Amino acid sequence: MAEDLHIASGSKEQQYQSLVPQIKGLLQGETNFIANLANICAALKEQFNFFWVGFYLVEGKELVLGPFQGPVACTRIAYNRGVCGTAWANEETLIVPNVDEFPGHIACSSLSKSEIVVPLLQNGKCIAILDVDSKELNSFDLIDKQYLNTILDLLNSQ
Ligand code: SME
Repeated sequence: MAEDLHIASGSKEQQYQSLVPQIKGLLQGETNFIANLANICAALKEQFNFFWVGFYLVEGKELVLGPFQGPVACTRIAYNRGVCGTAWANEETLIVPNVDEFPGHIACSSLSKSEIVVPLLQNGKCIAILDVDSKELNSFDLIDKQYLNTILDLLNSQ
């Protein structure tokens, strides 16, 4: 039985520092990949109240919508398309301070203004991406990049 999340206050870094061990606890002993992705989304949404947080799973030459929290979203994204498809192709975290300035950005919602996309690599191969959207410009920085990568690394130590 999962316990309620303790919602930390303080700086963004302090919030992540409180959240990471809690997510580690949530994943411990659970080997189902989708269940773990779902709880990561819920924990991030609860702590930060992000506008949209979710996973897209690599399926052939496309990303397909996986577990998420937030408004309904596009279900399929082609390789190298949009922020998500580009992060997948480059296998690198992408921080987009203003989505209107990202060529080819896919607007699932016109309310989304900035975005970070983190690829989940397994044995050197991208198998999914984590996408986080904000209604404000410039919401994401290297702190988000560091801790979101730390959170995704927890999936590989299951
Ligand atoms: N904006 C993303 C699409 C996914 S949604 O934001 C949930 C992109 O450009 O790839």
